[in-house]
Amino acid sequence: MAEQSVLILKGNIIFTPDARNFKVYRDSYLIAVGGVIREICPALPAQYQALRIHDYTNQLIIPGFVDLHTHGAQFNQRGLGLDYKLLDWLNRYTFPEEGKFSDPDYASRVYEAFASELIAQGTTRAAVYATVHLSTSRLLFAVLARRGLGAYVGKVNMDANCPDFLKEDTAKSLQATEEILAEWTGNSLVKPIITPRFAPTSTRVLMDGLGKLAIKYDAAVQSHLAENTGEIEWVRELFPEHREYHQVYQHYHLFGRTPTLMAHCIHLSDNAMESMKENQVIAVHCPDSNMNLSSGIMPVRKLLNAGVKVGLGSDVGAGHSLSMPQTMIRAIQLSKIKHALEAEHQPLTLPEAFYLATKGGGSFFGRVGSFEPGYALDALVINDTAAGWDMEPLEKLQRFIYTGTTADIAARYAAGRKIG
Ligand code: GUN
Ligand code: FE
Repeated sequence: MAEQSVLILKGNIIFTPDARNFKVYRDSYLIAVGGVIREICPALPAQYQALRIHDYTNQLIIPGFVDLHTHGAQFNQRGLGLDYKLLDWLNRYTFPEEGKFSDPDYASRVYEAFASELIAQGTTRAAVYATVHLSTSRLLFAVLARRGLGAYVGKVNMDANCPDFLKEDTAKSLQATEEILAEWTGNSLVKPIITPRFAPTSTRVLMDGLGKLAIKYDAAVQSHLAENTGEIEWVRELFPEHREYHQVYQHYHLFGRTPTLMAHCIHLSDNAMESMKENQVIAVHCPDSNMNLSSGIMPVRKLLNAGVKVGLGSDVGAGHSLSMPQTMIRAIQLSKIKHALEAEHQPLTLPEAFYLATKGGGSFFGRVGSFEPGYALDALVINDTAAGWDMEPLEKLQRFIYTGTTADIAARYAAGRKIG
């Protein structure tokens, strides 16, 4: 065993092996070999005694956060134009902003700042949209890889119903996507993901080609689904041959044929939920965005009860913050409002929300988001500054989630390497 490949962290270790409860190991050792967790021990086993210990005694060690839906290119747009609803917000703010990503200097500045903020906030894995631009999408891959983050990165595809300065030629869009797939498939940390923005900005030919690329490269897929009632009506007009929105994606092999993320999933029929479950499509809950754009409340309890896998997304820039603890809180708060309106929707609990932002979302990346043996060592060290007096580790964690800031994260590890 090469000495440098062993990583030992000591502290109060907390994670959610399932959605019901936090598991707490007080004053214990988290041992990873080659970036993969081997075991948690109350005392250091003899074979590791000579090795360096990263001593975080009295601090918390928790899994890194997973953001399953965010737009790197909208980082400089946070907080702007949020009195609009989705389609006006896209036309007035987002499309003009994304148009700037033809400029590599601008793109590079925004993507570097985006990566810095992801790391600061304790996000160690993310599924990220770039823009339609091939060259600056490549920049985003390179920036995240250099920073040591785990990510799926999507060059956006759009060949219809968007401004001319973003509208792609269909064949060129497919070709650019294939170039990226060829370049980044097989990278261990930063992987490509096929990203038709959403059905309304895609022609049938584009979606057909993207579905074929997904199968050819066994590549993941991400898009938006059933976020806003105007959007849903528009999809009905554009694709009258399909009864429901999700069937448009499904028809083109973009709905679970390969691992698939669908953001929002607010206004879904029971049939659509059943189809998500059957096709193992992950619904990404983006509560901050849904409030900001008045999109509605995702019926997260109903999706979970239906057996649909759920993760959490910041959806920056419709969401205004990359903080996954804040995203957890908003998911919980929205679920409580939903419960107040319709009592049968039981609210999310804190361990459930934590699970969604770690092991639940992490499952899209493989064995990520937990501290069980075989999982990638993605970890955060949370210091005491957010805590009060005489608090148990679990109370400190609650306090951090609700009131913590980036300054309370003392160290960050992704795939066994210290980052930031
Ligand atoms: N639907 C299509 N594009 C977008 C986007 O950029 N953000 C959100 N929230 N929804 C979308
Ligand atoms: Fe989005």
